[in-house]
Amino acid sequence: MTQHQSSLESIQRYYGEILKSSDDLQTSACCIGTSPAPYIAEALAKVQDEVKARFYGCGSPIPPALNGAHVLDLGCGAGRDCYVLSQLVGPNGSVIGVDMTKEQLAVARKHRDHHARKFGFANIEFREGYIEDLRTARIADDSVDVVVSNCVLNLSPDKQSAFREILRVLRQGGELYVSDVFADRRVPPNLAADPVLRGECLGGALYWEDFRRLMAAAGCRDVRVIERRRVAINNSDIEARTALIEFYSVTVRAFKLDLEDRCEDYGQAAIYKGTIPEAPNAFELDDHHRFVAHKAVPVCGNTADMLSLSRYAPHFETIGDKSVHFGLFECGPPAAQVAGNAATPIKCC
Ligand SMILES: C[S@@+](CC[C@H](N)C(=O)[O-])C[C@H]1O[C@@H](n2cnc3c(N)ncnc32)[C@H](O)[C@@H]1O
Repeated sequence: MTQHQSSLESIQRYYGEILKSSDDLQTSACCIGTSPAPYIAEALAKVQDEVKARFYGCGSPIPPALNGAHVLDLGCGAGRDCYVLSQLVGPNGSVIGVDMTKEQLAVARKHRDHHARKFGFANIEFREGYIEDLRTARIADDSVDVVVSNCVLNLSPDKQSAFREILRVLRQGGELYVSDVFADRRVPPNLAADPVLRGECLGGALYWEDFRRLMAAAGCRDVRVIERRRVAINNSDIEARTALIEFYSVTVRAFKLDLEDRCEDYGQAAIYKGTIPEAPNAFELDDHHRFVAHKAVPVCGNTADMLSLSRYAPHFETIGDKSVHFGLFECGPPAAQVAGNAATPIKCC
């Protein structure tokens, strides 16, 4: 058996046999520390308790403006996020949840009919497959509007393939929106190989800079941080073993667009029309771009493309084009750094 296969099997055992509910987790890494937005809480209230009890996510990777979208949830587990997304995409959209662990999929599928009756439509499919090769779950090229994932990418023994697959299945202008655990440095091999640390989403946590490099290699040169929160481990043995490493739950978004690796200034601006129902007053693109409705905001070329060449386009007026270049775009607070120490601030965007 290859190391790759044995790593996948160890994760399958962890989520299929060892964990029966979120109470069995040994750390707080796979736990959300914040309350969801009211419209998400409302959708969540309609999800079956057994599904919610097997939630092992570390964030809320649910972007706005989903009505009619075709969404793919990587490592959907028992399906909690899929059942929330199902309500938000509505009868004209669809949700496919992919997971490799049969026990998780069994719980997700068991409640499919109940939720379809409750919502008044059936738009979800749960498929067995591997995120490193989404053909195993019959996901075609350029077929998905939004890829979401909640605390799964860290578990992959082959993250480069997973990122390549995400970019393959997203349609042009499609969005990747994920919550995952990141580390402020590379996790040493002895900790990365520990089955409990790996299962608890710590051993495989990506060092932010390596994540950025892997995404760039897959074709995505600009990844935006939406939210970052320090992970409280709450297990003295594991805390002692991981010692100096700081872990963060980070929600990020990226687009399948041909973007530049730095923010360049073409004198463009964007105006949010206030037309996304769940965000009537302001749209938050990331931790340093808040578009108050009807107010023009100067933007770099990449941000202009994210807003005008994605499904957010109907909600924005973008002023200007890229015919004249004014140099590097000055943007973002040093707080945009995601998983580094204060001495090495990451330039935004
Ligand atoms: C931490 S749980 C998160 C589950 C779900 N997203 C949630 O929020 O409850 C990780 C899930 O990812 C699945 N998984 C891990 N690695 C995978 C892979 N390489 N391919 C497919 N599924 C995977 C596991 O089976 C498990 O159900």
